[in-house]
Amino acid sequence: MIDDLDFPVEPYRIKVVEPIKMTTKEERELNIQRAHFNIFNIRSEDVFIDLLTDSGTSAMSDDQWAGIMKGDEAYAGCRNYFNFVETIQDITGFKHIIPVHQGRVAENLLFSTILKEGDYVPNNTHFDTTRGNVTHKKGIAVDLIIKEGKDPAKEYPFKGNMDVERLEEFIIEKGRDKIPAVFMTLTNNSAGGQPVSMENIRRTKEVCEKYGIPLFYDAARYAENAYFIKLREPGYENKSIKEIAREMFSYADGCCMSAKKDALVNMGGFLGTNDDDLEQKITNLMIMIEGFRTYGGLSGRDLEVIARGLLEALDADYLAHRIEQVKFLGEELDKIGVPYVKPTGGHAVFVDAGAFLPHIPRDQFPAQALVIALYREGGVRAVEIGGLMFAEKDPVTGKVKHPPMELVRLAIPRRVYTMSHLKYVAHTFKKIMAYKDKLSGFEITYEPRYMRHFTMHLKEITPQEIKVK
Ligand code: F0G
Repeated sequence: MIDDLDFPVEPYRIKVVEPIKMTTKEERELNIQRAHFNIFNIRSEDVFIDLLTDSGTSAMSDDQWAGIMKGDEAYAGCRNYFNFVETIQDITGFKHIIPVHQGRVAENLLFSTILKEGDYVPNNTHFDTTRGNVTHKKGIAVDLIIKEGKDPAKEYPFKGNMDVERLEEFIIEKGRDKIPAVFMTLTNNSAGGQPVSMENIRRTKEVCEKYGIPLFYDAARYAENAYFIKLREPGYENKSIKEIAREMFSYADGCCMSAKKDALVNMGGFLGTNDDDLEQKITNLMIMIEGFRTYGGLSGRDLEVIARGLLEALDADYLAHRIEQVKFLGEELDKIGVPYVKPTGGHAVFVDAGAFLPHIPRDQFPAQALVIALYREGGVRAVEIGGLMFAEKDPVTGKVKHPPMELVRLAIPRRVYTMSHLKYVAHTFKKIMAYKDKLSGFEITYEPRYMRHFTMHLKEITPQEIKVK
């Protein structure tokens, strides 16, 4: 990359474009009302800048598109499967690689196989599908992130780290037999896309080894995590991303991976393990629900583009631009005084909606109020990562426990938006700043049993008077 620039320059040029269109304020108002104030119910064509997720939203390279034509769609033993397995083995070192159609299936297969009712799964922070899959199998998902990771304003290089002392105490408290696996989410999505240091990984592994518990990674954004290690951890500055990734994986017994992030594809995932018995059990289960072992719910062409994308995502120039883009959006927000989790993480800026809208109580979902304001004001789609997504109700007392932070995630799709798009997002915030103190909270009018944020309906407590000029 170019050293003396203070803005990110794309290390690629654009060969294909997809038009996006701006809607009017009236149209957006109608859309958001029809969507019951749930941003997942908005049509993507009615969004101008879509920062809902960085998952499955990447732009593929010309080499990946060329790989599509190399798809071998045989039911068993297609050549793309072998390329897929060998590429992943080369990066991770795992003995067995099982393809699945997305990350949550890997989680489901794993927890269906290893978890008994009442077991605990410690993690630095569970992503919502991981938590959902643990809970669905009647396990208990426990987050043991370090205290720095819970403070949005605290600058710390590896805010995604596991609290290793607490992990050991927890294992002693609950007993080794109640813990079938320890997980580490790299980077730590729900806690701000914050990285985990190699030292922390190593220490977590030591504790797992001491008690004979397998260590698994949720590796969705492992390459971004490796880049942060190169950037921030002494001793790694001259290592390649692949060398760092290999060392990271050398401490794990297995992983679940959503290829929709750091494999730069629109669909896919895999499960890695060194355990022959586990591989056999999972493969048998998988054949029933996902597909044969050499395609796992994917087409041959999908396996090919994952193999190619995984290698592209290990490129240090690509990663530098990616991380710089996230940082750039953070700096634009700094200029107008929008608080966010600092420093910026790997895939998104996480705005501290609790601090931005202090007049809205937590049980009225301030982060959702900001999400709705961003759509209404500028056609920007973001996602709530706070009480809607993570609040838990005690089944006995009915008391609601809110997560430590009330955030709005501005996730940046890989290789999709340019600097001017990001400036536009900051501009939308600037407009909201002028009337933010008047924004209203929300109440829930419908919610399902699991993962409510995807399908719930909401109502604005004080309906806004939308000025349309
Ligand atoms: N683990 C992490 C850390 C994730 O961020 C995700 C998905 C998954 C697992 C599940 O993978 O979607 O392929 O089934 N995260 C997306 C997001 C949905 O928006 O952050 P999947």
